[in-house]
Amino acid sequence: MNSSRRSTLSRLLWGAAGAVAVPVAYVAARFLRPPVTEPARCVAGSIEKIRSQPTTLVRVGLNDAVVQPMPDGTIRAISLRCTHTGCPVHWVDASREFHCACHGGRFDAEGRVIAGPPPRPLQRLRVEEIGGNVVVIDEPPVDGVPDEPPTA
Ligand code: FES
Repeated sequence: MNSSRRSTLSRLLWGAAGAVAVPVAYVAARFLRPPVTEPARCVAGSIEKIRSQPTTLVRVGLNDAVVQPMPDGTIRAISLRCTHTGCPVHWVDASREFHCACHGGRFDAEGRVIAGPPPRPLQRLRVEEIGGNVVVIDEPPVDGVPDEPPTA
């Protein structure tokens, strides 16, 4: 093989290696530093309206949440997304519990796990009062673990 052919073959091999390495490096970089996404948010309603009813069901991003005025004057929001694998949970008035139909998870009225496989309580969502309205914000917890609801 003459040196010209060897040189051409070498350039082709390095080019092919580069063609593979660049996308692999891009995917690795995206994995190590995922894109920043804005948290989902919604206007649940006016403060007066939210305070006038025991619960308000809202849609925040892809999930439902229940917004409740509390006796101490605060307003809280609990995600209705099960912490097991993300199925929707629903309120069962008779037992005063949230139930998940997927694998039988059950949560008390505070969102604490009382049965089934869910590893964590239902997530508390951030609530802000902005311009006379209640805004619910579903943002991922900083450390990846949702806040624990207060103990009874
Ligand atoms: S997703 Fe709710 S118990 Fe499995």
